[in-house]
Amino acid sequence: MSTAISPLHDFVRAMPKAELHVHIEGTLEPELIFALARRNGIALAYRDIAALRAAYAFTDLQSFLDIYYAGASVLRTEQDFYDLAWAYLAGARANAVLRTEIFFDPQSHTARGVAMATVMGGLTRALEDARARLGLSADLILCFLRHLSEDSALETLDQALPFREHLIGVGLDSGEVGHPPVKFARVFTRCRDLGLRVVAHAGEEGPPDYIWQALDILGAERIDHGVRALEDPALVARLARDRVPLTVCPLSNVRLQVFPTLAAHNLLRMLDAGLVVTVNSDDPAYFGGDISENFIGLVEGLGLTQDQAVQLARHGFEASFADETSRALWQARLEQYRDDRTIA
Ligand code: ADE
Ligand code: ZN
Repeated sequence: MSTAISPLHDFVRAMPKAELHVHIEGTLEPELIFALARRNGIALAYRDIAALRAAYAFTDLQSFLDIYYAGASVLRTEQDFYDLAWAYLAGARANAVLRTEIFFDPQSHTARGVAMATVMGGLTRALEDARARLGLSADLILCFLRHLSEDSALETLDQALPFREHLIGVGLDSGEVGHPPVKFARVFTRCRDLGLRVVAHAGEEGPPDYIWQALDILGAERIDHGVRALEDPALVARLARDRVPLTVCPLSNVRLQVFPTLAAHNLLRMLDAGLVVTVNSDDPAYFGGDISENFIGLVEGLGLTQDQAVQLARHGFEASFADETSRALWQARLEQYRDDRTIA
């Protein structure tokens, strides 16, 4: 990446944004992993932070997930989940994020004996503080792990029901290939009946057919990643016609070798095809950058223009599950920002 300071870098950092694809466990920085391990008396397999960071050399999604689930195992107490979420939320506010919809993976915690109430207690307390103290709009999306069974997802949904009011929606994540959306048809039907909004990871490593399934079988209202949609013109037409948002994560895609470089990323081609593309960080502690750094990567790698950056941010607010009034307010703030800060 160029070291020259571009006015566009500052512009995208301070630009009002929504983040719609961030896994809270993926915001766990190595420093916090070591601090929580010490606090909880857990021995780590890595000598120090440098040794842990050196292990962040991923060849594909699964090679990342192995390390990501191991990292999350230091989270034990309600305070741990609070500290994790608060660190992300404070950073998001500093990046002019006005709205965030945060994924969490309860099965990666309940499987280790951590109660759903512990996870929910810490996360919801941090979100309440972020609303009150940072003026940040934030909600939670519970993700089911697709490498586990549908019965496990159904059991997880039952465990989450006492906390229904703290959830805006549900999603589907973890290893994609070999675990098609159809495997979770029943649990997503239940979720829709409960009034939960629906998203799903699809077309990250998996084929376009998984995106069709996410739409037509799970009822997904947004597709997480979806970069492989461009392989199927009929799917592109469907996504464009229905304005189904795609939450794209450029730095993640490069670190997991979905694309060899940012310059090879298809995000601008997706935008040109009329798709409602948004920019997100996915797992910023592991992929080398928060949401602003994802925008900056696109500026450097793809020559993203100011107008395109604003368009992507506009899509983020459009795609959000917040109420219509809030979305219109944020959009107006974005347009005002563009008018005030247009770079000559
Ligand atoms: N869990 C955390 N990050 C993920 C990703 N990029 N794809 C699927 N599952 C995930
Ligand atoms: Zn993701």
